Amino acid sequence: MAKAWTPSSWQTHPASQQPDWPDPGHLEQALKQISSFPPLVFAGEARSLEASLGQVAAGNAFMLQAGDCAESFEAFSADNIRDKLRVILQMAVVLTYSLGVPVVKVGRIAGQFAKPRSTPTELVGDVELPSFRGHMVNGASATAAARVADPERLVQAYHQSASTLNLLRAFVKGGFADLNRVHAWTQEFVASSPEGQKYEQLAAEIDRALRFMRACGIDTESNSRLHEVDVFTSHEALLLGYEEALTRQDSTTGGWYDCSAHMLWIGERTRELDGAHVEFLRGVGNPIGCKIGPTSTPEMVLELCETLNHAQVPGRLTLISRMGAEHVEDKLRPILRIVRSAGHPVVWACDPMHANTYTAVSGRKTRNFDDICAEIGGFVRAHSAEGTWPGGIHVELTGDDVTECIGGADNILDAQLDDRYQTVCDPRLNGRQSLDLAFRIADLIRTNGLA
Ligand code: TRP
Ligand code: MN
Repeated sequence: MAKAWTPSSWQTHPASQQPDWPDPGHLEQALKQISSFPPLVFAGEARSLEASLGQVAAGNAFMLQAGDCAESFEAFSADNIRDKLRVILQMAVVLTYSLGVPVVKVGRIAGQFAKPRSTPTELVGDVELPSFRGHMVNGASATAAARVADPERLVQAYHQSASTLNLLRAFVKGGFADLNRVHAWTQEFVASSPEGQKYEQLAAEIDRALRFMRACGIDTESNSRLHEVDVFTSHEALLLGYEEALTRQDSTTGGWYDCSAHMLWIGERTRELDGAHVEFLRGVGNPIGCKIGPTSTPEMVLELCETLNHAQVPGRLTLISRMGAEHVEDKLRPILRIVRSAGHPVVWACDPMHANTYTAVSGRKTRNFDDICAEIGGFVRAHSAEGTWPGGIHVELTGDDVTECIGGADNILDAQLDDRYQTVCDPRLNGRQSLDLAFRIADLIRTNGLA
């Protein structure tokens, strides 16, 4: 029998990746303020996401989880939010049509501000500075002053999350997500690049499907299903003080929900079974994710399932594998087998980004589009072999025309990385690469006979 859980029971477990706050009194005061603010999401929404993810676990839907590696306090504008949402919606249309199942849309957005680091400090020239931990903690510039952890940033992250979420809600219910409109953008992509032209046939099929519906009297404007979507929010639950401050008791069910986002995940660096992150998330009612990397053994993953979803609720737990293109098939298959035979109804998602990062000749941290596709390929083949459903993907992207990942639509080269390398953390797919990826995934799942 597990020990009693409370929103603060994580405090008696070892918490890795927590910043070194110089003034504990200031931190306490910021957290107290946040705990008095309204929740950002409503528990009923988290339950509805869990139900949708339950459909993914059962093989009747697909999950698309996408957004920035780290949101930025500087790149905070309506255009930035709009363009990110646009790419996610475009990918969703392509996937919905090709897979023939609903796509559950989850943004890495409105709260994705804190980053785990491989070392607490870094060497800049010959000065040792505290590592940058995301705008929710400190500044990115390489000065001692910028790198001091400042609790006011937690408050600012809350406010930025609130206005980002507000605009997202307005867009997805206000007509921006109209199916015809989203498809028209995709047609522009198809028409305007040689890579895109490969997808002309699929785009034309979607076009015909839309015209057929219109001819039958189902037009997108008057039909709210075709005019509106649900987009959920998610982020890595890294700074547990912040997450605790937004954890509230739901008045309708009495359960505890982390109301900082609909879905929260545990990162590869914080998934120790007896650690504070697992302890915190096991007790909240939200759907949760857990990253699993190449060092995870089948037994460890099974234990995580037992701890995080003891009751085996479908949709409660998403396992997000990030194994690397080369190893994914071999590493994943025994994990799929053990979890399936124990009867755990998890969502299997593929993060094809994080284990395929390398330093380019130019010195920039990058990822190759082909490796990203290769990891998804291995992921899909592993599922096809084990008879499980490759339920979703988890990617880092932006709607902006950045040059951070190599290859893909427009074939970005190593030498071009410096042109528009804007990320505050990991390299992201740009808008066109992201859409290209959606077409590739559609292809992979179809050619493996899974849709
Ligand atoms: N509401 C449906 C859905 O979310 C169909 C839909 C409308 C849609 N606009 C969309 C799907 C934009 C994807 C993208 O699936
Ligand atoms: Mn990242």
